[in-house]
Amino acid sequence: MRRSQLHRCITPWSVTSENQTTSFDYSRVVAQFKSQQILQQDRQELLDRIETVSKKSDQQHQQSFLKHFLRRGIIFSHRDFGDFLNDQEKSRPAYLYTGRGPSASSMHIGHLLPFYLCSSLQQTFDIPLVIQVTDDEKFLFRDINLDKLDKMTTENIKDIIACGFDQDKTFIFRNTQYFGEMYMTILQIQRCFSTNAVQKTFGFSGTDCVGKLSFAATQAAPCFASSFPKVLPFADRSNARCLIPCAIDQDPFFVLTRNNCCGPLKKSKPSLLHTTFLPGLKGPGVKMSSSDKDLSNVILLTDDEAAVKKKMRSAFSGGRATLKELQEKGADLEVDTAYQYLRYFLLDQQEFEEIGKEYGSGKISTGAVKDRAAEVVNSVLKTFREKRSAVTDETVKSFCEKRMLK
Ligand code: TYM
Repeated sequence: MRRSQLHRCITPWSVTSENQTTSFDYSRVVAQFKSQQILQQDRQELLDRIETVSKKSDQQHQQSFLKHFLRRGIIFSHRDFGDFLNDQEKSRPAYLYTGRGPSASSMHIGHLLPFYLCSSLQQTFDIPLVIQVTDDEKFLFRDINLDKLDKMTTENIKDIIACGFDQDKTFIFRNTQYFGEMYMTILQIQRCFSTNAVQKTFGFSGTDCVGKLSFAATQAAPCFASSFPKVLPFADRSNARCLIPCAIDQDPFFVLTRNNCCGPLKKSKPSLLHTTFLPGLKGPGVKMSSSDKDLSNVILLTDDEAAVKKKMRSAFSGGRATLKELQEKGADLEVDTAYQYLRYFLLDQQEFEEIGKEYGSGKISTGAVKDRAAEVVNSVLKTFREKRSAVTDETVKSFCEKRMLK
């Protein structure tokens, strides 16, 4: 199938497309966002450079999500990642920043991607990580009442912790509680953002509430170490390098920050690593989203084995209308949900390649690939649930308390 030439609109709050059965053309996304694409032929060089800089051998990297996502093209683009590596090489201060906007009480399996990536980057480079939980954003943008938000936020923080971070090096904060500490930095950023620039970046109109406009500075603030005077352990917080792993929908916040703040405030530009979207189950052209009302499109972290198997069985497939046609033409792997989920979650490269070869040439059935994908997803969820059940209110407190990280 030809890749989509159709219009797609990616914003931090929705990813819409006119055709959910064609896959994203990420080269076009890169061209639209003007980020730096990581081409297939450059992946190995980048992996080698990471190994040199981090001094972690390939053996130690074996099961790393950083390596896995790079090798499979799931990390497909970046901004100034080379500068981050240069700074690491010179032992300059650096930290990771990512976040979550709690809009449902359980996160979905796509949310694991940036958090697993952060965990892997933290292990690789041994640096602090700050995680912003934007309960304020969901109040402003999704009209969710504050009581409900409070419960969702606590549950989401537990989900995040279960992704496996170094407690001594990780700080998780909710905007409604931590805002004061960042306020000096937010003020400086607000002075750099014009109403026009924010409106143009996000497409806000005159009838949008002012909170939406000012939120841009709140998500920008953690790009600068000055937002964490009592948390980030650097002697000089004025110019520490921030690296942000996220799916590309969050990129506009940081382009706005890079273009409007770093010059006037004399700060290093934040670097970014962009991942692709884990597609929903209904087709490759729509990202999995927790605000999706159709739960058959989404795998929640709370879904049990039977639910995952059932959802995967009815997922959009790149298999053909008849067995005969599948045997003649092979499956369309690019749009096949089950195969794509294997690309994200099956770490065994040899098995992944074999399935690709056999399914792509019609030697194995769609049902078999769907069942294998359900098994793999269930094993990811099983590990996740074991870790999640060990997260107590005390654990939450220790990740969220304001203290100097190591
Ligand atoms: P949120 O809660 O929408 O998403 C949290 C993180 O998950 C990524 N993501 C996905 N990745 C892969 N496949 C998907 N289907 C998928 N859906 C979501 C998002 O890109 C994000 O990285 N405003 C933000 C919270 C935030 C933030 C940040 C995120 C605050 N500061 C800094 C990243 C970096 C939000 O609502 O994310």
